[in-house]
Amino acid sequence: MVDMDKIVSLSKRRGFIFQSSEIYGGLGSAWDYGPLGVELKNNVKRLWWRDNVHLRDDMVGLDAAITMHPRVWEASGHLASFSDPFTGCRDCGRHYRADHVEEARKNSKWWQRLMEVRAKGTWSAVINWVKGDGKKLAPNLASAKKPEEFSARDFSRYPGPHQLSESEFLKEVGGSDSICPSCGGKLSEPRSAGLMLETSLGPVQETAIKVYLRPETAQGIFVNFDNVLQASRKKLPFGIAQIGKAFRNEITPGNFTFRTREFEQMEIEFFCMPGTDEEWHQKWVHERFGWYQRYGIRTENIRQREHGLDELAHYAKGCVDIEYLFPMGWSELEGIANRTDYDLRQHSQFSGKALEYFDEESKQKIIPYVIEPSAGADRSTLAFLVDAYHEEEVRGEKRVVLKFHPELAPIKIAVLPLLKKNDRIVETAKKLTADLRRRWYAVYDDTASIGRLYRRQDEVGTPFCVTVDVQTVGDEKAPADDKVTIRDRNTMEQVRVSLSALEPIIEKLMDGKWAEVAQEHGIKRE
Ligand code: GAP
Repeated sequence: MVDMDKIVSLSKRRGFIFQSSEIYGGLGSAWDYGPLGVELKNNVKRLWWRDNVHLRDDMVGLDAAITMHPRVWEASGHLASFSDPFTGCRDCGRHYRADHVEEARKNSKWWQRLMEVRAKGTWSAVINWVKGDGKKLAPNLASAKKPEEFSARDFSRYPGPHQLSESEFLKEVGGSDSICPSCGGKLSEPRSAGLMLETSLGPVQETAIKVYLRPETAQGIFVNFDNVLQASRKKLPFGIAQIGKAFRNEITPGNFTFRTREFEQMEIEFFCMPGTDEEWHQKWVHERFGWYQRYGIRTENIRQREHGLDELAHYAKGCVDIEYLFPMGWSELEGIANRTDYDLRQHSQFSGKALEYFDEESKQKIIPYVIEPSAGADRSTLAFLVDAYHEEEVRGEKRVVLKFHPELAPIKIAVLPLLKKNDRIVETAKKLTADLRRRWYAVYDDTASIGRLYRRQDEVGTPFCVTVDVQTVGDEKAPADDKVTIRDRNTMEQVRVSLSALEPIIEKLMDGKWAEVAQEHGIKRE
């Protein structure tokens, strides 16, 4: 698995993702998508929309406002219960989500070193560590603050440090079992932190109203249930899909774009008859799990995990997470929850407007149940980026290649002139780029030698390069053959095809049919 630093550095170098407000020192919890990143993320959203809305006849779309009536959040339960327990370090002032502390400590350098020392089985090794590395790596550990006191302790009461449980050992060295992963200081008792971001609407402070930036796009769908039902005349079961920004005052944003305070969701609220909800839940888990694999996520890097009862959100009866093996370990990519009739019922009660469905068969009004596949556009983009990353050795040199599915690749085709001083080659290549652009995002590049240009396109995941050379345009020795070379990013194989057949061939290639095209036209190697 590639480490996150490589992804962050490639993202910046090649224009996928930049730190927000970097020239002012950056804003830790926000990221900007650069020229290639915006293409990649737009492709993720476009494919999600196409597959979940346009290719199904039981789905319609919506684009609701980010700011909503404040009562929405009372009804939804977010005001009362959308919070995370957090804790702060009394020494360095850093804050952590209480349920993330243990994992963060286990991943910290000081704890990993200390565990190696503990495994040696002697207290004298631990004392030496405390006086040396411990003081540098975790200066606020109780033992590192007062090493003389620590070394004077009577350890004969205990078995060797390796025989204490991890939490007993932590108490011994840190003075508590709730220790700051960063500096080793003592953490405060957990408190609850509301996760919603506030702003105010209106030009004059006295009359402005306090509103929240939505923490999920879902509520825009629930409050529009009746509008959509009346306008679209849909029958149950049917779903409403929406893509849009959401905001959460996360206590510990981090891991690049994985957890941020401003992010984008791709959510479906699928309304069905009560009693059919569990079946629909399973169908959606299956559908969404398959979707990531369809666009290239490797099977070994994706899994399903069912929530325990203690993990369920306040509105959910059941939830299955789709998890991806990110560089920091298995983490949530998408959650598929059974929200029952909770939200429609709550909004009916709080707004006084009945959000019901008239069932023709039983001649009764019912409140539909809801299955909610809720994905993150940023997390999906990050997962596709991480999964596509490959390093290979080609003729003794390292090749970095992003093996994106062609539909996800930011640039689909790069048109490269073999000689940039030959006017006919350049003119043909530029005209070809303009023609291809009508259907696919194509670029023209003549700023380096052909080998360098291929490597550059590999590194940004362009599936096909088309090269125009002397034979294409002809010279005094030979007439034009009107053929170009297509080079496949994954195999680095090349085929030579007629310009007139290029578009239908590229269409085939976008469908993943390189082998078929290569067989038909004969391969020549790079
Ligand atoms: N409406 C249900 C809901 O919002 P969630 O599990 O809290 O459920 C759904 O969020 C998805 O939104 C997550 O699986 C993740 O992909 C994305 N997401 C949530 N919080 C995020 C954050 N702070 N940064 C980036 N993506 C986030």
